[in-house]
Amino acid sequence: MQETARKRLQQAERVTVLTGAGISAESGVPTFRGAGGLWEGFRPEELATPEAYARDPEKVWRWYAWRYQQVMEAEPNEAHYLLARLEEEKGNGFLLVTQNVDGLHHRAGSRRLLELHGSITRARCERCGHRQPLPPPDEFEPPPYCERCGSRMRPDVVWFGEFLDADLLARAERAFMTSEVALVIGTSAVVEPAASLGRLAKAAGAYLIEINPEATPLTPLADLSLRAGAAAGLRWLLE
Ligand code: OAD
Ligand code: ZN
Repeated sequence: MQETARKRLQQAERVTVLTGAGISAESGVPTFRGAGGLWEGFRPEELATPEAYARDPEKVWRWYAWRYQQVMEAEPNEAHYLLARLEEEKGNGFLLVTQNVDGLHHRAGSRRLLELHGSITRARCERCGHRQPLPPPDEFEPPPYCERCGSRMRPDVVWFGEFLDADLLARAERAFMTSEVALVIGTSAVVEPAASLGRLAKAAGAYLIEINPEATPLTPLADLSLRAGAAAGLRWLLE
């Protein structure tokens, strides 16, 4: 079964990949559902919401500024680089969809990339929707103001209770539904709709591979579920 997975991946022209916080764990970025994800005793669910932001924008911005700094001090790890290499090999038939907002895939060279939950490295204008990158962490004083209209900006991420960008999601779904091999790496697969992408691919006939040190709701569906960290699992699959 494991040899089959390697062969399928090697031969496939259309490959989709979904990643979650687990792929950045080896870069030292804490995952969401681990204790290390807490900040001053708050759970992400108490801060990553439109309600929290409306109530106390400064507090929410301080949390994002802290995470932004953490992420900029981190480096992409081998797993991020291996996916950038896989993209080079597969070309047009490849798409990487990430739930991560840390920007590490982009920094590792991935370009056929959809950041479904936005990016912590950018802000979005509350009034006109303009997006702009944040200044370097040591020059950044939140909140940022829009260079176009001067209004306050919010983090350019998707919060609990908000909708994903419909166009991005449709592109992700289309790619997963037409892929020959779908890889799901480092996600607890409990947050919808990203969690459904693996299921969609499988239902449409793709060969589904999961890489996660723990079992997830997707595990029973997977053709192969590697109980491994992201880098070790990918190294083995791609060697
Ligand atoms: P979670 O924190 O829910 O799950 C992280 C997953 O990574 C778990 O299944 C771990 O077993 C796995 N993991 C841990 N170490 C790993 C390693 N070295 N290699 C591979 N996997 C490892 O993170 P997500 O599934 O990404 O949404 O969470 C999904 C979304 O929920 C996030 O994007 C965020 C969050 O709330 C928003 O902010 C909208
Ligand atoms: Zn504006």
